[in-house]
Amino acid sequence: MMENTQIITKSNDLAETDEVAELLPSLPKETSWRSGYMYRYQGFWCPEKQISAVIAFQRHFVAHKTDTILVTLPKTGTTWLKALAFSIMNRAKYAASQNPLNSFNPHGLVPFFEYKLYANNQIPDLSVFPSPRIFATHVPYPSLPDSIKNSSCQIVYLCRNPFDTFISLWHFISQARPERFGPLSLEDSFDRFCNGVAGFGPFFDHVLGFWTKSLERPEKVLFLKFEDMKEDINSQLKRLAEFLGCPFSAEEERDGVIEGISKLCSFSNLKDKEANKTGMSIPGFENNTLFRRGEVGDWVNFLTPDMVDRLNKIMEQQLAGSGLQFKTCF
Ligand code: A3P
Repeated sequence: MMENTQIITKSNDLAETDEVAELLPSLPKETSWRSGYMYRYQGFWCPEKQISAVIAFQRHFVAHKTDTILVTLPKTGTTWLKALAFSIMNRAKYAASQNPLNSFNPHGLVPFFEYKLYANNQIPDLSVFPSPRIFATHVPYPSLPDSIKNSSCQIVYLCRNPFDTFISLWHFISQARPERFGPLSLEDSFDRFCNGVAGFGPFFDHVLGFWTKSLERPEKVLFLKFEDMKEDINSQLKRLAEFLGCPFSAEEERDGVIEGISKLCSFSNLKDKEANKTGMSIPGFENNTLFRRGEVGDWVNFLTPDMVDRLNKIMEQQLAGSGLQFKTCF
């Protein structure tokens, strides 16, 4: 478990950080939604602070074949997926009342490579993590380390319709943005989102990268949707447990283990935990801002008909022929 595991790190060698400093001026750059810049690195928009961590992750992470890597775009349900995957994989270890989710934010239990493990020019000693290990990242498929792509470790990808993802992102960054920059314009942010300029985006490149892989290698990549989880969490939990090689037994089903996990990880339950009302598990973002409404279709309260029309057209064009569709409201 991450929160109370001592990760012994060594400092990233200086050559690598110098290399990053040399690399940045050659990359396309945009101001970030929050503060500072984002750089277009290997085709995706990487926040300035995460670039060296992403490079260190790409160079140094060695996947074990029993690892599970959770991948999402920001605001697509990462916190929820971390809680669910952690609970499924550790269900034999903890009774419901003892589950660490009662005392820790999910991001403290399943760490991000780029915000935590390889952040601050560190290279973690991940051998201290008990097997099977669970990690998380926002890095798109083509930029994942070769050892993740080539080993038999598994990837769980969760996506969410772009309308709700955008509104969630806009709220989240509005809260985290330094006051001196003034309010984050909805119109300007929407324009950038539509143009693909958002952390770890373009949105559709990210989603389609994992969608295609999940069709090519279904044993390697499980593709989940936030909307399906909202509609029927228990059947999505079963899919997840089966994919992870630890399906629920008939006895567990009878004993309500699936319902127990969905309830433990539900929005209302997690939001009210002390550990999620206070503190900061991702640097720069208060834990309480990770739980806003957790619904499908809240975008109708914010987007104008013109905005809806624009994003619908982009979605139609981007997803054409892919077989992927999103529910945008119930
Ligand atoms: P909203 O802003 O639409 O409410 P991420 O975890 O990737 O940062 O995504 C955050 C979004 O997931 C937020 O959406 C948040 O409220 C929602 N969320 C967080 N925990 C959830 C849970 N247990 N169930 C459903 N939604 C959840």
